[in-house]
Parts: sequence; C-alpha cells; structure tokens
Amino acid sequence: MSDTLEQAADCLRRGELAVIPTETVYGLAANALNAQAVSKIFEVKGRPADHPLIVHVRPDADLSQFAAQVPESANRLRKAFWPGPLTMVLRKSPGVPAITTGRRDTVALRAPNHPIALALLEMLDFPLAAPSANRFMSVSPTTVEDLDGAIRSKACGVVDGGPCQVGIESTVVDLTGEQPAILRPGMISRAQIEAVLGVKVGEPEDLARSPGTHPRHYAPRTKLILKPNVTPEEPGLVFGKPRNLHQLEMQRNPEAYAKRLYSALIELDKMDLPLAFVELPPDGVEWEAIHDRLRRAAQSE
Ligand code: TXA
Ligand code: MG
Repeated sequence: MSDTLEQAADCLRRGELAVIPTETVYGLAANALNAQAVSKIFEVKGRPADHPLIVHVRPDADLSQFAAQVPESANRLRKAFWPGPLTMVLRKSPGVPAITTGRRDTVALRAPNHPIALALLEMLDFPLAAPSANRFMSVSPTTVEDLDGAIRSKACGVVDGGPCQVGIESTVVDLTGEQPAILRPGMISRAQIEAVLGVKVGEPEDLARSPGTHPRHYAPRTKLILKPNVTPEEPGLVFGKPRNLHQLEMQRNPEAYAKRLYSALIELDKMDLPLAFVELPPDGVEWEAIHDRLRRAAQSE
C-alpha cells in the first residue's frame, strides 16, 4: 500500500521517516534540520554514525542556508545539472545539525529530479536528508516492490513513484578542495562536469575523502563473479550474452543498464544461488559508474 504525498509530508513534518522516490533510487527521508528525526534514519538503516547523509533541496534553494561557502563552481554545476543526479559537497553552515553530516564540516547537497520528490520539497519548509532506502551495505531499491520489509515497516509513509529512471545513485563531487574531485561516480560523468567547469576533475580513486564508500557496498547476498564472457550454461547469469532484445539494449546502452541493475540483483538474490556470473559491460567513460557498482557488488568482504 502506498501513501499519498500529503500523508508523507505529514510524517516528515512530525519528525518521522518517509520512503520517497527520486530519479536515482528510493530514499529514506527525514527533516534534515531535525537531529532527532535524522537519528531515526541511522537507526533504521543500521548505518554507522560517521557516514554523512545527502541533504535534498529544491532546485532553486538558497544554498547559503546550508553551506558556509558557495563557490562559483557550485553555481555553475547546479545550473547545468539540477534538478538531477548530481550531489555537491560544500563547507557546511552551522544551521545543519552535526548528525546529518556525520559530524563533518562539509555538507552534501542535491536537488532530485522526480516529480514526487520535487512536489514534497515544495510542500515542506525544510530540506530532506535521505540516504538510499536499503539496510547498510545492501542493494538500493529502485521500485517500491524492491523495498526491504523491515525498512518499509519502520517508515511512517511510503510513496510509490514507479521505477526510478536513472537507477543508480547520484554522482558525488567534492567542491571543497583545490581541485574538484569525484567521490562517487554516477551517471553524470567526470567529462560532463569538466566540460561545465573548464578544469580537470580528480578521479574517484584519487582520494580517501568519501566517507562511507566501503568497497563492499551495494552488494547482493549472492556471490558474484565478473568476467568478460559468460556462457549460457553458467548459473544465475544476470546480464550475460543477450538472450532477448531487452538484454541486448542493456549491453549497448549504459542508461538502460543502470536503470535495471539493482532490480536484477535483488531478483537474483531471490533465486538463492550459491554464486552467479555477470558478464562485464563494455569499457568507456559512460560505463564508469556501472563498473564501480558491479565491482562493489562482487566484493566478498
Ligand atoms: O542518488 C542518491 O544520491 C541517493 C538518493 C536517495 O538521493 N542517495 C544516496 O545516499 O545514495 P547515500 O546516503 O546512500 O549515499 C551518500 C553518499 C555517500 O557516498 C557519502 O559518503 C556521500 O554521499 N556524502 C554525503 N555527505 C558527504 C560529505 N559531507 N562529505 C563527503 N561525502 C559525503
Ligand atoms: Mg546508499
């Protein structure tokens, strides 16, 4: 059963949690400025307290409410990509509670591009802290059907917004250093960000600046083995040799692949296989975020 926008807004105003759709993955949301509400996110997700949350704002929000400094690069990037799957890390302003940012002096901000998330942000007079709506270290849900029962039962509201159009989490770019750096790759690529900023952007592997990017993140229970070629006889094939048009499209198109990836991993887990093979998608910058998620999904510890 799905709740209405109004019901979810009421939950959030009361300091309770709501599962909401975004264009990337479903988020487990709370009032980002209410420390007690945010503490419920950590509790329900089983997330360590030093893993900072993304604060979701309206696309036209005054960022100086949340950030102590808003560099020109941030203005350019929001103009180019918001609302959309780009999160910017900036110096935090004192108004954002320490618990929301994992006690760091920086804050991650993003304006999601989903009509329901945007409508909610319009209805509320506070921003929403929202990590992906999964238990710590498991796969993020991209449909309401893929939501973990425990998370669903602990949320005051759950809004169904259909399948997420992007399917993997936002690109996280840190704008607090000398040089911008990507902390988490996503479907907005380094090349796109470089084109807007006109400067080089650091590689994700460059820095240990991203808290909570454990090598084994986004992982299904099933042990995954990544290889260049998977034969049809091998078990639990996720996206191997294309067997139908749908899979063929996925092998060629990173957007289609990203959109389906997490649902496919969750489906795979339901098959209870000891292990499964995944055929590696092509190389190339447009596949970078997908390779990142597959690598993490296949990490055994
Ligand atoms: O697409 C998304 O970003 C989704 C949807 C719901 O918006 N949210 C999401 O949140 O993926 P979460 O909490 O699962 O991931 C947050 C990421 C982590 O990699 C975290 O390290 C990084 O953002 N992050 C958040 N605040 C940060 C900060 N102050 N400094 C550095 N990294 C930060
Ligand atoms: Mg997550």
